[in-house]
Amino acid sequence: MKMAWFAAFLIVMQFMFILSVEGIGVNWGTQAAQNLPPSTIVQILKDNNISRIKLFDSDTWTVSYFANTGIEVMLGVPNNQLASLAKNYDKAKEYVKENVTLAYKAGVYIRYVAVGNEPFLKSYNGSNHDTTFPAMQNVQKALNEEGYGDKIKVTTPQNADVYDSGLQGPSAGQFRSDIRDIMHQIVSFLKENDAPFLVNVYPFLSLYQNPDFPVEFAFFDGGANPVVDKATSYTNMLDANLDTLVWALKKAGAPKLKIILGEIGWPTDGHKDANLDGREPEEHRAGDFERHWGILKYDGQPKFPMDFSGNGKEVWPVGAKNVKYLEKQWCVFNTDIKNMTKVPGNMQYACQMADCTALNHDGSCDKTLGNTDRISYAFNMYYQMNNQDVRACDFEGLARLVDQNASTNECLFPIGIESAGRRLGMNVGASGVVGVLVLLLLFSHH
Ligand SMILES: *[C@@H]1O[C@H](CO)[C@@H](O)[C@H](O)[C@H]1NC(C)=O
Ligand SMILES: *[C@@H]1O[C@H](CO)[C@@H](O)[C@H](O)[C@H]1NC(C)=O
Ligand SMILES: *[C@@H]1O[C@H](CO)[C@@H](O)[C@H](O)[C@H]1NC(C)=O
Ligand SMILES: *[C@@H]1O[C@H](CO)[C@@H](O)[C@H](O)[C@H]1NC(C)=O
Ligand SMILES: *[C@@H]1O[C@H](CO)[C@@H](O)[C@H](O)[C@H]1NC(C)=O
Repeated sequence: MKMAWFAAFLIVMQFMFILSVEGIGVNWGTQAAQNLPPSTIVQILKDNNISRIKLFDSDTWTVSYFANTGIEVMLGVPNNQLASLAKNYDKAKEYVKENVTLAYKAGVYIRYVAVGNEPFLKSYNGSNHDTTFPAMQNVQKALNEEGYGDKIKVTTPQNADVYDSGLQGPSAGQFRSDIRDIMHQIVSFLKENDAPFLVNVYPFLSLYQNPDFPVEFAFFDGGANPVVDKATSYTNMLDANLDTLVWALKKAGAPKLKIILGEIGWPTDGHKDANLDGREPEEHRAGDFERHWGILKYDGQPKFPMDFSGNGKEVWPVGAKNVKYLEKQWCVFNTDIKNMTKVPGNMQYACQMADCTALNHDGSCDKTLGNTDRISYAFNMYYQMNNQDVRACDFEGLARLVDQNASTNECLFPIGIESAGRRLGMNVGASGVVGVLVLLLLFSHH
């Protein structure tokens, strides 16, 4: 049952509309305290025969590493740039010149520009409603003017919450009413431009947000009660979700639009349903699992078997090579300290800044660590995230450095990695995404 989710991707799915998988790729999220160098990421892709990557920005330094690798690249434009690209065509021209066409000329095989990232999430309160489509239009127009219109297509990654079918099954699928007009405009634009529709689907979030969601329906092993919709019987959430999209596209006048599943996956820690078996639900609680998406650990080593060739074999991905770890030093709670008054405040500080999600209820270190080890775990994460700066192992005198491995059998106290330098190093810290690569799938209609 292990990783049924991942292994079963490429199994033929029972779609009402026959979609078939054309290819596979990964996302590279760089919001981590320490990033692997782009050259290492390129090597991981080559070693695993992965020929497509999606980025979340268009940083020229990072992008340059994909030159002459044959890897297809999807650049990203963050949401915070939508307004200026929408309002000011010169900004779009400048972006295309500096971040897109220069790299293309240097041999980076840029296929797509993803404008915005899930810009219509309800939690954004509509703040990107007026800017996303004009920004897309401006960027595509600038690409066309530079002569790249046929080669590089603009699209926009949407969360699956932009469409729904109420309780009626996929055939009732349509775009969400508050953004239906915008989505229909975007869909027509994509159709005219022969660009794909990009969607992120996370069955885990359906489960997380709704305790009544049938767990079996999030997997592929057929244990769920099928949802029957007209002539089609759905046994898993992904099939039903994608068919809901296809129905929504059909109603928007573009039934044959190519679909790219931009992100999909299951987090592996930080929540009771987030683990390597991807199951065993009991009682539902909130948790911070956001940084545990992805198929590799923070140091580029694989978390679980996954066969990128689609043959469903139990093979482990090839991990990052020549990773440069920091010294074998850990920051731990000084057990000479008897007055614990200052501990909670310092621990809270460490966990706000660094990643303590393994300590969450039912996280990987939750059950096995005693109280002082929990404090040590938090201190160590903060210290490693700060590149083992000695000043990051003080905590008002509560902490000390050790050179014996502080890990226990069940709980890894990680050692940081050398950061990828000027642009990427320490750029986010607090909200680091540990899992660097998330899957991407391309579908086409038959
Ligand atoms: C990648 O493809 C090459 C050539 O087809 C093959 O020899 C190699 O085993 C593949 N590697 C993996 C990890 O699938
Ligand atoms: C374009 O590249 C510059 C320089 O690398 C970078 O600062 C900027 O953020 C990039 N733009 C986008 C949208 O990523
Ligand atoms: C959306 O509105 C809620 C409630 O008014 C607010 O807490 C939240 O910060 C807003 N989010 C954004 C992105 O503006
Ligand atoms: C423990 O430390 C706090 C703050 O540093 C101090 O106020 C308190 O008196 C100390 N308690 C004992 C028993 O020494
Ligand atoms: C520390 O110990 C853990 C558990 O035995 C092990 O997995 C890890 O590789 C060790 N770390 C180092 C830096 O040796």
